[in-house]
Amino acid sequence: MEQYIIKGGNPLVGEVEIGGSKNAALPILAASLMTDETVYIDNMPDVFDTNVLLKAMQGIGVMVNRTGRHSVTINAGQLSGQTITDETIRRIRAAYYPVGAMLGKYREAKVPLPGGCEIGCRAIDQHIKGFRALGAEVSIEYGYIVTKAEKLTGAHIYMDCVSVGATINVMMAAALAEGTTIIENAAKEPHVVDLANFLNSMGAKIKGAGTDVVRITGVKKLHGTEYTIIPDQIEAGTFMFAAAVTKGDVTVKNVIPKHLESISAKLTEIGCQISESDGCMRVVATKRLKSTHVKTLPYPGFPTDMQPQIAVALASAQGISIVTESIFENRFKYVDELTRMGANIKVEGNTAIITGVDRYTGADISAPDLRAGAALVTAALAADGFSTVDDIRYIERGYEDFHIKLQNLGALIERVNDDKDIRKFKLRVG
Ligand code: EPZ
Repeated sequence: MEQYIIKGGNPLVGEVEIGGSKNAALPILAASLMTDETVYIDNMPDVFDTNVLLKAMQGIGVMVNRTGRHSVTINAGQLSGQTITDETIRRIRAAYYPVGAMLGKYREAKVPLPGGCEIGCRAIDQHIKGFRALGAEVSIEYGYIVTKAEKLTGAHIYMDCVSVGATINVMMAAALAEGTTIIENAAKEPHVVDLANFLNSMGAKIKGAGTDVVRITGVKKLHGTEYTIIPDQIEAGTFMFAAAVTKGDVTVKNVIPKHLESISAKLTEIGCQISESDGCMRVVATKRLKSTHVKTLPYPGFPTDMQPQIAVALASAQGISIVTESIFENRFKYVDELTRMGANIKVEGNTAIITGVDRYTGADISAPDLRAGAALVTAALAADGFSTVDDIRYIERGYEDFHIKLQNLGALIERVNDDKDIRKFKLRVG
């Protein structure tokens, strides 16, 4: 079983190139189903989730041509149908994006219910609410989302909660509806804006993405396009906090600083020096980190996908910190693993009370989900001694070449398959 073996203690130093945003790439790939013309996409991350979605799309006749590791041309002009049966897609949350795309283009879709990280109940009631408001029938049958519509008519939809997925999905379906749709209480994440920009580059008429109110004027047809996906602000944030935890000096390249403002603000609060220059952010952490309090919020608040990473930093900081998770109800599963490394954290409901410890000690730990797995790796990089990290498949769902990028920053980390490899690593690094 693949795992990481890590010898902690090396500060991370150097530069790391940030890849395309997974959470922008997934809806953009799905939205390519909405035209019969060819779409060219660049800066796509080569991770499990994007590869699973592309394979599922090929399963219904989409022509996918990987022109490079991070670029692909897609033509969905000859679909064999609107039912995705590829069972692997059930393992990713983004399985629901082809629903909105095909409902918009074909007025029907049948796709397995989505999976995704077990960080809480991953409801889809707001997606269903939006589709029905546009005039679609939606049902859950035998583990599938099944939807169809004689016609789609623009509607005024008020989301009961801020949902990235539902905002994106309704935007896609509404783009080819008749008339105007208004989404109130819309999600404002950079990947919501990126999807809107992608659809507009195909001829859609979407205004207000990135604000609470998105206005979509339906059009008859969408055309092909060439598009470059935005950088992944969560990958960037993960490396920025890794620099903080290991007392290093890391420059993340190819980022959009605006997308990182809440992350940079917290790093500054806990004592890091942050500097910005054209498309790069540098994080220097020389002294012991300071405590702070943080509550995760929809963008532009502090991202829930950065909650484990800041908790790892605070658990080795001076003083008591409070982390409140307001988006998901089960996103503290990593605390037990971090406790094995010496952390002192008390979880009460959706709040973690963290008493900083002087140092982490290496341990054998498992990744409970994508972001927590990456955060635990950063703890192991800062710990005294050796650690192994199991279940790294979660991490590889969303981080491309994670261990290689860390090696290039001076980390002693290897991706291994068995105990023999672990013994060899330990002999080599001493
Ligand atoms: C997206 O998930 C991301 N995934 C998640 O990132 C991210 O944590 C989340 O947005 C919040 O930013 C992808 O983009 C593939 P939501 P999504 O709908 O769309 C509730 C990662 O690490 N809700 O904004 O599923 C829901 O239960 C992953 O890359 C409903 O109640 O998130 C949650 O409590 C992990 N009904 C809250 O809203 C719905 O119909 C936010 O969910 C939809 C959501």
